[in-house]
Amino acid sequence: MRLFFTTLLFLVSHAIAEDGSQGWLRYAPVPNAPGPESVPSAIIALNATQSSPVFTAGEELQRGIEGILGKRLHLSATAGQSHSAIVVGTVDAYTNAYGDLKEAEDLETDGFFLSATLDKVVIVGQNERGALYGAFEYLSQLAQNNVTCEPLVYNPQAPIRWTNEWDNMDGSIERGYAGPSLFFRDGFVVDNTTRVAEYARLLASIRINGMIVNNVNANATLLSDRNVEGLGRLADAMRPYGVQLGISLNFASPNQTLGTFDPLDPKVDAWWANITNQIYNKVPDMAGYLVKANSEGQPGPLTYNRTLSDGANMFARAVNPHGGVVMFRAFVYDNHISPVNWTNDRANAQLEFFQHLDGNFDDNVVVQIKFGPIDFQVREPASPLFGSLRNTSTAIEVQITPEYLGQNCHLVYLAPQWKEILEFDMRSDNHSSKVKDIITGERFKRPLGGYAGVSGVGSNTTWLGSHIAMSNLYAFGRLAWDASLGSEAILQDWIRLTFGSNQDVLDTITDMSMKSWPAYENYSGNLGVQTLTDILYTHFGPNPASQDNNGWGQWTRADNVSIGMDRTVKNGTGNAGQYPPEIAQIYENLEQTPDNLLLWFHHVPYTQRLKSGKTVIQHFYDAHYEGAATAQTFVKQWKSLEGKIDKERFEHVLFRQTFQAGHSLVWRDSINQFYHNLSAIPDEAKRVGNHPYRIEAESMSLDGYKPYAVNPFHTASGYAAIVTTSNTTIGIATANVTFTTGMYDVAVNYYDLIGGKAKYQLEIGNRTVGRWTGDLEDKLGHAPSIYLDGHSATRITFQGVEVSQGERVRITGQADGIEPAPIDYISFLPPGIVD
Ligand code: GCU
Repeated sequence: MRLFFTTLLFLVSHAIAEDGSQGWLRYAPVPNAPGPESVPSAIIALNATQSSPVFTAGEELQRGIEGILGKRLHLSATAGQSHSAIVVGTVDAYTNAYGDLKEAEDLETDGFFLSATLDKVVIVGQNERGALYGAFEYLSQLAQNNVTCEPLVYNPQAPIRWTNEWDNMDGSIERGYAGPSLFFRDGFVVDNTTRVAEYARLLASIRINGMIVNNVNANATLLSDRNVEGLGRLADAMRPYGVQLGISLNFASPNQTLGTFDPLDPKVDAWWANITNQIYNKVPDMAGYLVKANSEGQPGPLTYNRTLSDGANMFARAVNPHGGVVMFRAFVYDNHISPVNWTNDRANAQLEFFQHLDGNFDDNVVVQIKFGPIDFQVREPASPLFGSLRNTSTAIEVQITPEYLGQNCHLVYLAPQWKEILEFDMRSDNHSSKVKDIITGERFKRPLGGYAGVSGVGSNTTWLGSHIAMSNLYAFGRLAWDASLGSEAILQDWIRLTFGSNQDVLDTITDMSMKSWPAYENYSGNLGVQTLTDILYTHFGPNPASQDNNGWGQWTRADNVSIGMDRTVKNGTGNAGQYPPEIAQIYENLEQTPDNLLLWFHHVPYTQRLKSGKTVIQHFYDAHYEGAATAQTFVKQWKSLEGKIDKERFEHVLFRQTFQAGHSLVWRDSINQFYHNLSAIPDEAKRVGNHPYRIEAESMSLDGYKPYAVNPFHTASGYAAIVTTSNTTIGIATANVTFTTGMYDVAVNYYDLIGGKAKYQLEIGNRTVGRWTGDLEDKLGHAPSIYLDGHSATRITFQGVEVSQGERVRITGQADGIEPAPIDYISFLPPGIVD
């Protein structure tokens, strides 16, 4: 009977579309679960008000247990017999109904107590939201078949655990890779908030308590009557999940009415007080404001020679009567600094702008600091500002949406990167000063602080555009609650909840994910030189030259003999000296600086020896080969899970891993060609510039096609590709196969631009090997390109093709729109070779 029941559950679960919309809250039946008798038979949720998180908790418990154990429990709000029940409520409600609970005194804001025995489960929150967190925790344990028997108190380490949504009023999302906004369309707040509520549900389950719903590059039209009304609607959708709404403000919003936005002008102050009251009228529990001022063209107090704290405090005064918080971003810098002056340094900006203001911010202001001094690069040291604001509350800002790290078309599990920063010890006053203890307020005894995660979720059912990227959203919430958790342990919870408990699935996704950040770092930017993506265009593909010789200050200072930013006090920008002395001394000193930050702090010859014994340039070459090789193994690893994961998600992830494998080669070759060309130092292993398995398209016989010099040059093999002679032409490129007869994987590298869907056909002899369309823009969410470059460069592979020496290989391309069916090269890869 039990077997029949379990089988039935299994079949039911597999009938449900795995479109990702439930994220990690799928509540799928658990094989070998203890059975329905392992939970009490009723749920008592001690609040009958629908907008209450306790009410939500009751419903969620009912839904979750029905999914996991196949048993629908009776749900009531009446504090009846607690024997054989799951009781969920706040401390107050619980003690009113059932008397004192001794653990209650250990509960902090948002914390909860959970005690689960076979016949009685008690979930008590310090507040309503805490009770909901407790319900989600219990469900997570049930779904992982791992219910903790010991009664435990769970408290957050940081009060602020917010996402930042960079959604624009027109419905687009800045740095979002998963379709249009959930919140806005055509200038207004959306009417249908169903998915907003579903998103809040996911966030509540990882104990996120606030969400800034609009872009930091904010638009004053958010404050129109119609939109303020709309904010009320969004907040109503989020309230049952205990997620408080907040908004980003445009500093100059009063300008249109008042002709000024001077923060010390009483009229401006009154304007903000008034609009703030209006918003609180619609959103009585608004979390607060987020402000990007005097940064990247945004207006701010400096326009009026006022300080940044003058600006922040103006908003602080407005929200203070309502209990609101102002998150004021430290991302303030001049994006027109002169690269000619070697002492200029964007990395110095935050300390220069903020340090002297320490202590001047009102108590409800939190300075929100990006994790590193520049901008979410693949590796940065922790921002020195964390170590120097002692009388100001601070929060760390991380990007869940990996703008510079593959835009969810590459697997990059980010928790290890965040952990590295959180665990970094600033040694302020020669005492332990880990970033994680600074931002919770513990180290400098601050009342506020915490976490902001730039999320990037969109309307795509997968939320982030990729099922496998959701581990990052999950990990953000878990770390914001408890930064001492290990990134692998968090990951494995997410895997079990998302894909089930099959051991191979668990091991494989763990292995891939834990290798993913190092792999990406290896095939993008090494040794602290930054990501080396194209910072002037879409931030997706390689373009190392884009870093230098402009005002953005993301310089690598690469010339033909040396590379790296000299940030020493002795010779350089002085940035190393912004850290507390123990750390400053490490970074100042070439020998002591860790290899992975060498080029962040020092300008060295390519022939400089690392601690590993390799030269910088050889490390570049080797790391790029290693990283790209690892990305190839992800495809094999994922394929090994066929049949162990539902088809829908299996195919989706396989497609992206295959793309990543191809694009990692684009990265590898591009960066290696660039530095090889610049330094003229050969690769000891003779791989760079030497591709014996390739036929360059420009060397084939062309009919309707012509050679094309690709820019940047290093994003094409041999620096050139072919394009059709006109946008309506069919091009044909042919060559004779010179490789020995045998079985090959045949790979075609081509460019997939936005603005057209070219069609291709590959034939060998008189056999058609494959046909495809250049339509990745419909399938991948990364920021597209209209050029042949490192963003559009991609690869398609046909496996196990029998080829005879002397046969003719022929590729036909039909241009479409602005896409001239561009081809870079064809590779004939013997078994085991990837090139
Ligand atoms: C990056 C990002 C921008 C964003 C900015 C910010 O520079 O590319 O899109 O506006 O950060 O954090 O404000």
